[in-house]
Formats: sequence, C-alpha cells, structure tokens
Amino acid sequence: MCGIVGYAGSEQAVPILMGGLAKLEYRGYDSAGVALQQDCGLTVIKSKGRLAELRRQLETAGDTRGTVGLGHTRWATHGEPSDLNAHPHLSQDARFAVVHNGIIENYIELKQMLLEKGYTFQSQTDTEVIVNLLAYYDTGDLLDTVLKVRNKLGGSYALGVLSAAAPGQIVAVRKDSPLIVGLCKSGALMASDIPALIAHTRDYYELSEREAAVLTKDGARFYNVNREPVSKTPYHVDWDIDAASLGGYEHFMMKEIMEQPRVLRDTISSKIHDGEVVFPDVSLTRAQVEAIDRLYIVACGSAAHAGMVGKHVIRRVAGLSAEVELASEFRYQEPLLTDRSLVVIISQSGETADSLAALRYAREKGAKTLAVVNVLGSSIARSAEHVIYTNAGPEIAVATTKAYSCQLAVMYLLAVYLGRALGRLSDEDNASLLKELQALPDKADALLGCKETMQYYAAQYYGAKDIFLIGRNLDYAAALEASLKLKEISYIHSEAYAAGELKHGPIALLERGTLVVALAATVSMADKLRSNILEVKARGAEVLALAQEGDEKIKTVADALFEVPRTPDIFTPSMTIIPMQFFAYYVAAMRGMDIDKPRNLAKSVTVE
Ligand code: M6R
Repeated sequence: MCGIVGYAGSEQAVPILMGGLAKLEYRGYDSAGVALQQDCGLTVIKSKGRLAELRRQLETAGDTRGTVGLGHTRWATHGEPSDLNAHPHLSQDARFAVVHNGIIENYIELKQMLLEKGYTFQSQTDTEVIVNLLAYYDTGDLLDTVLKVRNKLGGSYALGVLSAAAPGQIVAVRKDSPLIVGLCKSGALMASDIPALIAHTRDYYELSEREAAVLTKDGARFYNVNREPVSKTPYHVDWDIDAASLGGYEHFMMKEIMEQPRVLRDTISSKIHDGEVVFPDVSLTRAQVEAIDRLYIVACGSAAHAGMVGKHVIRRVAGLSAEVELASEFRYQEPLLTDRSLVVIISQSGETADSLAALRYAREKGAKTLAVVNVLGSSIARSAEHVIYTNAGPEIAVATTKAYSCQLAVMYLLAVYLGRALGRLSDEDNASLLKELQALPDKADALLGCKETMQYYAAQYYGAKDIFLIGRNLDYAAALEASLKLKEISYIHSEAYAAGELKHGPIALLERGTLVVALAATVSMADKLRSNILEVKARGAEVLALAQEGDEKIKTVADALFEVPRTPDIFTPSMTIIPMQFFAYYVAAMRGMDIDKPRNLAKSVTVE
C-alpha cells in the first residue's frame, strides 16, 4: 500500500526521498511524487506510473533544491491512478503539502464542510480534504494545526505535513497506519517501513497510535495524544543494507525463496532451548493453557494458509481443536469469545488492517491474544498480549515465500508448546518432533536443488489457461498456498480443491491437457489421493504429483512426479511449498510478468 518517506536535514532531500521511495516500491503503487520546501514556497512534482517516470519529471523540473521534503508512492483507493490523484497534495492556497497512507472514513462530511466554506478540489482523494483542513484550521503553529485536524479525522492515517510557514520542519502523525522515524547525522527521516531508512540508520522509533513527531535537522521530538512531549526508546534492526537489496538475484522473490533454509534455521533454533519449545514473549501459564475454551487462528492470504496448517497440526500434536478464520470475516461471524479463548493472529507485516482489527476485537471481548509476526515493533506485535516472532528478515517481494515458511515453522512449534503445556506430549514424542523440526532447514536446503526441475515443468505449462491443485488435509492447506502463488504472480487462473470435493462440481472444469498438480506428500492420505488422481486423469487431465521420496505407488498413477525429502506428515507443507514457489516463479518469469510487484497487489494491506 502507499509508501511515505520524509526528510528534514542539511542535505539535498530529493536523492534521499527517491532512494527511500525505491525501497518502498515493493509495497505496491501506481503513482508517485515529492514535495519540497523551497525559498519560493512548496513545490510538488508527481506523476502516474513508476518511479522512473517521476525521476524523468524531476530531471526536467528545473530547480529541485531543498533540504526538507516528503515523498510518496500511492496505491489508489479514492480515485483512479492519475497525476492529479497522486500525492503529495497541496492545499488550495499552496501553504501546506501532505502525504497520506490510509483511508479517511468521514472525508465526505469533511469535504462538504470545506465546499460550503468555498474550498475547491482538484483530485478525487480523501487526502486533499486533509490538506485543506490544515489551511482552514491553521493556528500559525504547525504542530498545533496538525493535531487540531487529526482530531477531526476518522479512519486510518499516517501523515507527513509540510508548511511553507514552518521552514525546516515536518510534522508526522499516525493512527492505524504504520510510520517510523529515524535519525541520521544530517537530520531526521520518517518512513512507512524500515527498508526506506536502512541506508541512513538501523535505529528507528515507532510512533504509537495518534502520537505525533516533529522532524528537523536537529532531530525528532515526539508528542503523545495530549501534545505532551514523550521520550521514546528506539528499536534496532540488525539487518545490513544487503538484506533489503537484490544481492545479485534478478528478483527479490527468488532471493527470498533461496533464503528459506537460513531463516527456517533462525526461526526454529531460536525457540528451542534444552529440548523444549520456549517463546520469550509468551507468558501464558500452564493453567491458562489448560483453561483454553476455544482457539481461533485469524489471518489473511498466505498467513491464513499457514493458519490452516496450524489448525491440523495443533489438533494432531496438542489434541486441541482450533478454528481458522479470515481476518476480514472474523468480527462479523460473531465468534464465541470469552476470557478463556486464545486468538492467534498471524501476519508477516504486522500491519494488515483486517488482522489488526480482528486482534482489537478479540481484546475487546476479553480473549487472550497471541501474535505471530515478522516485523518487530509492528502494530500487531505491539497490540497483542503475547508475541512470537518469525525470523524471516525483511521480505520485499509482494508474494510471500520465506515469511510463510517461517509461519509454518512457528505453527509446528506452537503445537508442540501447547502439547507440552497440556501434558499431552510425552518426553519421547517431544524429543522426536523437535528433532524432525530441526532437520527441516537442511531438507529445505536440499529442495533448493529442484530449481531447474521446476523450471522445466514451468516451461511446459506456462501457457496454460487454468492450473488446478488438489490435496487432502495438510496437502490441501499447502495447495491453497501454492495456488495463490501462481495466481498472484503469473495471473494464470488457478484453484486449489480438497481432492474429495472435485466430483461435487469442479471436475466439470477439466479438459484434455489441463494441468492438475496433486500434492500427495501426507502418507496418511496417499491411498485416497491416488484414487482422486485417477479420477482427474480419466477426464484427460495431466497430473504432476509431489510426493515423499520412496512413494512407489504414486508413480503408477501420475504423469510426472517430483519427490520431496521424507518427513513426518505434519511437516510436509514445508516441503511441497518450495518446489511450488519455484514453479510459480518460473511460470511468471516465462510469461514476462513483474514478479516482485504484481499488478493490483500491495505488500502491506493497510486498508480494510
Ligand atoms: O502481512 P500479512 O502476513 O498480514 O499479509 C497477509 C496477506 O496480505 C499476504 O499473505 C498476501 O496474501 C501475500 N501477498 C501472499 O503472497
């Protein structure tokens, strides 16, 4: 979703803003712009399209000097992608410039009020309402004015504000949309996410809900909701600059697929101590675990697919029944929550609006909340009572790969943790599961060698109109994720079905030569799945099966077979997903798609 960068300092702002925006491209955008404080007032340069177009405009714009400025990449919500709707927006009198991430839910009423006062609007955005409210409520003090306007806004916002009358200053404020502040030798920066700051600092401050910051070349001052100064402790990230750059790969997605053995090792090894699963930021007592009446796993997209795996594994290992809910639906299902319920929210970014709203809802209802999050200090991490971090490092490609794999690993660890706390997992079974779990990174490493094989299959099917995936139980959960990978980056229509459901309708879609990928790695499902493979073959489908090494019977039914390393059934999604990530990657590459930044998608979905 939208990306914000701001800089107030003593260096030229344009290169810093453009460098930061380039690091936020992964969030998804359709237009971009910058605003500069110049001697002549505020200057805005913006355009529809990619940053390359903005760069061209900057080159021909004449004087772009200025040491204080804001940059923005916009992912359209109110109004189509266009030059006019691009941010930053200027107030009618050109005294204020604003960049905004989020949605102002009461903007129609506010706009009406301004129209009645004689304001006119150039764009269809809610943001132009904010900037004109600043002009209308201007008190002469930038921070005061921003806070006054903030109190009128409903919905979500991360805002960066410049005023022609406040040279050297940026005011930032946020609610329900991420915003961080970093300090560097020449001044202060703000951004939607860490990669935009990493070239300048590895220490950053999170703005809390409705907090504000004033950035100048001398640093940053923070204010709470009542405008009282607050001192904040910075977070430190230990990634180096390479972690957020391509490092020789053509795409972040490929780099991130290849990083999976390492990040799985980091995630798993950091949570096993003396033969037991330990989560440092989880303080549930044994009595609280024993008292759990309902366990909900709530998430969106791939994180929900990891949750589906979690549901099966927690049931099998801990004997606890879990329900998986899409975060966007959770609140409307009227879930049965009590103070004994545990709601697990899974999110890579920790900023997904629906997941955050579901978490808050669960807290309001008195349930216990546990977040499984990748981004340290993110809104979801800060809002949950208990947190388990995935150690995937920065994930840039819109299509998640390594973060999903780490979420799976945390689901396995959580199942073992709950099984132990409930006394349902013997010492022997605990030791054996943890041994298998610790072996996963090496098996993932071995799977990286399948790259060329999956490239070969991709070459055969990249022209397909439809690709179906089938599986049962854990294989079905993995198939949903594999299908999403194909859809989002190759734009091939793909569906995943529980294999037993096919004959209840979807089998009508099969034509001669349609590719059906059968995930057949869970041994307990093998016999039944073979029958389903025969059913689709009888309708002319070509079947590529993924099964565990040594499954001889599958060879007799599949047209092609890819073997994954042997592992207990519960861990098989971690094995089958890696070849399917490669498959999706190569299919998309052969179709010439924008792999890291697929159309219409955003990395961090900060609107509901
Ligand atoms: O940051 P989150 O994990 O909360 O994001 C959830 C989904 O938006 C995300 O998994 C999405 O489905 C990915 N693009 C899938 O690759």
